[in-house]
Amino acid sequence: MNDNPLRLNEQAPSAAPPIPAVQTHALSRAYGSMTALSNLDLTVHRADLFGFIGSNGAGKTTTLRILATFLTPSSGRAEVLGHDVVRDADRVRHLIGYMPDFFGVYKDMEVTEYLDFFGACYKIPAAVREKTVADVLELVGLTEKRGALIGALSRGMQQRLGLARVLIHDPQLLLLDEPASGLDPRARIEMMAILQELQRMGKTIIISSHILSELQTLCNRCAIIEKGRLIYSGPVQGVRADSQVGRVFRARVSTDPGRALELLRARPEVIEAHEEDGRLRVTVRDDHADAGLVAETLVRGGARLVELREEELGLEEVFLRVTKGETQ
Ligand SMILES: Nc1ncnc2c1ncn2[C@@H]1O[C@H](COP(=O)(O)OP(=O)(O)OP(=O)(O)O)[C@@H](O)[C@H]1O
Ligand SMILES: [Mg+2]
Repeated sequence: MNDNPLRLNEQAPSAAPPIPAVQTHALSRAYGSMTALSNLDLTVHRADLFGFIGSNGAGKTTTLRILATFLTPSSGRAEVLGHDVVRDADRVRHLIGYMPDFFGVYKDMEVTEYLDFFGACYKIPAAVREKTVADVLELVGLTEKRGALIGALSRGMQQRLGLARVLIHDPQLLLLDEPASGLDPRARIEMMAILQELQRMGKTIIISSHILSELQTLCNRCAIIEKGRLIYSGPVQGVRADSQVGRVFRARVSTDPGRALELLRARPEVIEAHEEDGRLRVTVRDDHADAGLVAETLVRGGARLVELREEELGLEEVFLRVTKGETQ
């Protein structure tokens, strides 16, 4: 019988694989003799809230400016939603909203006037502009300030206005270069909540920052770059597992701590051990070492172990360990 009204077990018509929101291939950029970006291969999926992490001078702004078509690559290529950022720059500009790390504000303009101006730049018809401006103001929580002079807004409000400006043409991809820098903790949290709302609306968001603890809870995926090179790219939770930074244990002994450290350091699985705040801080290799190794080493060596626990490493700590803190 061929009747299968529910079409169960039938293969869905084979669809082309989804186009990533951003893809770069061996993307490089030099400023004179200085290589700011070196062979970067990066993929950002649609609807990702993607953290772009790196120390000062790592190449974050350079990458975002290339994706925003403001800077051309020295070699390699980058695509935004399948469009080449150099050959198809006009198309790309309509698909993205780029919020630079520093943006001049027009202090003598009113909030609504400012957004209306940018709406006109994107050729949004006058008839719908008023509604569009009201919508983006609502989204960033600035409706009450619509008639205010920009110069009279607080720093946090100006940042939110900057975000409203990049949303005016309803872009699919947001490139935000440290959007929360200089904001107080409450304003940062508000900014993060807005970004999560935008992600729920289906936007793809790349956010650069060096505040990792913040990105850890906000982003689903991230990349870490250092000196223009990619160190990690993948799920936020995967950073720790991939980074091979080891597991850290804190142990307390009631016998000679110096002797205990000697015992631990003699084990090949122990990367490092030292005394800190009256406890031993022991880093062991990730792969085949655990608390049992630490306990066994100490007890067999005659130490009296009175406390042993594993320390959780946050993304911040992992970042400090995988990067060498080198700037260019
Ligand atoms: N216009 C320029 N001319 C010369 N060198 C530049 C220029 N812009 C950036 N650089 C250099 O390129 C490297 C990468 O800079 P970039 O601004 O991309 O880093 P970043 O990761 O955004 O750093 P930060 O966290 O400080 O914003 C740095 O060494 C910087 O000095
Ligand atoms: Mg920067």
